[in-house]
Amino acid sequence: MEVLSPIEKKLLLELEKRDGKAKPEEIEMEMVKVMNAVSWLQSKKLVSIEEKLAKEYEITEEGRKFLNEGLPEEKIFDFDGQMVKNIEERFGKEEAKIIIGWAIRKGWCKIFEKNGEKYISITEEGKKAAGKERKEIEALQNILQGKKIDDEIANILKKRRAIKERERIERVIHLTKKGWDVVKAGIKIEEEISQLTHEMIISQEWKKKKFRKYDIKAFAPSTYPAKRHPLSQLIEKIRRIFSEMGFKEIKGNYVESAFWNMDALFIPQDHPARDMQDTFYCRKPDKIEVEEELIKKIAEVHEKGIDGSTGWGYKFNENEARKALLRTHTTVNTIRYLYHNPKPPAKVFSIERVFRRENIDTTHLPEFHQIEGIIYEENANFGMLKGVLKEFYARMGFEKIRYRPAYFPYTEPSMEIEVEWNGRWIELGGSGIFRPEVTKPFGIEEPVLAWGLGLERMAMILLGLDDIRMLYWSDIDWLHKLPLL
Ligand code: PHE
Repeated sequence: MEVLSPIEKKLLLELEKRDGKAKPEEIEMEMVKVMNAVSWLQSKKLVSIEEKLAKEYEITEEGRKFLNEGLPEEKIFDFDGQMVKNIEERFGKEEAKIIIGWAIRKGWCKIFEKNGEKYISITEEGKKAAGKERKEIEALQNILQGKKIDDEIANILKKRRAIKERERIERVIHLTKKGWDVVKAGIKIEEEISQLTHEMIISQEWKKKKFRKYDIKAFAPSTYPAKRHPLSQLIEKIRRIFSEMGFKEIKGNYVESAFWNMDALFIPQDHPARDMQDTFYCRKPDKIEVEEELIKKIAEVHEKGIDGSTGWGYKFNENEARKALLRTHTTVNTIRYLYHNPKPPAKVFSIERVFRRENIDTTHLPEFHQIEGIIYEENANFGMLKGVLKEFYARMGFEKIRYRPAYFPYTEPSMEIEVEWNGRWIELGGSGIFRPEVTKPFGIEEPVLAWGLGLERMAMILLGLDDIRMLYWSDIDWLHKLPLL
């Protein structure tokens, strides 16, 4: 009793008046206060709440028209013995169809033909019904007055699009046995202080007042401080790791030419990844200009090779190179960077979004992020590449990683990186040393160690997800409960 607030006491008294049960809206108190009091009393087990799914109907615009103008089929009564054409002329073909259709369905009229013209004839049943048979209208009026209507008429009104059905949760508050005990013991509402103020202390008012006791076991709702989305947190962390390892961040564009995304990386023009099935090509712009001289240079590499390489040996198509597309990997960022900065050393990275025409499922997204990077320096070698990636994953918390030989058109040697998770090896990215066909045309003379790693796959593992889409679903409950990374 001593820990009950005035609104809790008031609610208990209201429930007592109503034999121990009431709907929230029946209680003479502001709704927020009622709901607050209910949740406090519920946690003290003095009340319980019963929830039922109730149907509710909303009258549509069509339904309002019925109420104002009557049912369309009632118009039929003015046309007894007249031509169907008259109704059409008066109300238009569409409306006439509704009027006659429902009148026939209700057995109010028949159509007969005379001299090739169609006529209306009101039946006996129609004459009886005229002005009396108004089930639909009555039901609509009942809805307006908040009364219940039966399912049969509700279905007809729904079919006629006069009403829409909504589901609503109906709540009833019940006094529990413990609640009754408290109520029976007698509840007094008296003035109590729940907060001591500066003024009360100064004026010594407090000596005359009665204080409400704290209920330290009272339920309190959880609160969740704002935080960044896990993927943003992860990106921040990766950015910090690469910065600490001496890398500089670079950025690129979503829309690129096939030239930079593919040709400059020695990806042959008939490579399956260049197919419309795999890559999003843009309609606007559909072309991106590339310096003629660069195109010529790369065309020659594809056709005949460079510096001992034999090239692919096919006829290079310059228009193919100018096609605009959504970048399929961030390796385009690094090759463009190297073109502008051909002198070593360089250590750069980017964490950006790429696009591929994938069907969405638990492990695939058509948009995802890659963690891309290169080390370009005089004595760079494969061992260094393995070392840097091992270091990166170790800092991300992956102790066990392994490398597997792989193939990319732009690197030699190439490898895939896998991490161990739940006893399984999961592929997280590709890497290698850029081939001479990629570096030589741009005057890049020293070895370039390159990698492109998946962000979302790694996020899945770190967050323990079995569906990659969770990262983009914005499930607020999941986000609330997720610890900081
Ligand atoms: N671009 C490759 C991918 O998208 C990854 C990669 C980057 C491989 C750099 C080698 C070197 O899968």
